[in-house]
Amino acid sequence: MANVRTLITAEQIAEKLAEMGRQITADYQGKDLLVVGVLKGAFMVMADLARHIDLPVEFDFMAVSSYGASTQTSGVVRILKDLDQEIAGRDVLIVEDIIDSGLTLNYLMKSLKVRKPASLEVAALLVKEGIQRVPLDVKYIGFRIGPEFVVGYGLDYAGKYRNLPFVGVIED
Ligand code: IMP
Ligand code: MG
Repeated sequence: MANVRTLITAEQIAEKLAEMGRQITADYQGKDLLVVGVLKGAFMVMADLARHIDLPVEFDFMAVSSYGASTQTSGVVRILKDLDQEIAGRDVLIVEDIIDSGLTLNYLMKSLKVRKPASLEVAALLVKEGIQRVPLDVKYIGFRIGPEFVVGYGLDYAGKYRNLPFVGVIED
């Protein structure tokens, strides 16, 4: 799309996810790994990361939403779709597209922790630097970016741009 300036190329993303997949494969040897994608944003990361995890892994999805369609997080999170399965005793890895204020993830982790997983970690393609209001321990980070609003590779602006194969910034 003509009005989107590329910030991270498709090649850079592919390389990073391959590396992340190798790391996850090494870290979860012999574990009962369940990878949980947070819809809708994480659908592309999930699909590409999954192909680099060489383990007998399972996948599930949750859908959450901050209220409204603005570019600011409201801090109010709704679970639109919960997990299909129980996670007690399992090694759970949450996959996120982007962590901004950390409020969404903080809420999600709290609601999953009470279900007593054996472990609970996070992999995020993008983390916005200097923005996080909630201190979070993110085990796998793809790229750290500045405070600008980005789209593409699953990330939307008012529902659009998710299909871009790269991450970029809307201009004009
Ligand atoms: P947080 O709760 O502030 O960490 O924001 C979480 C959610 O807001 C992300 O999972 C995205 O869905 C959305 N979000 C935050 N920053 C951006 C952005 O730059 N582009 C698109 N979506 C974003
Ligand atoms: Mg998201």
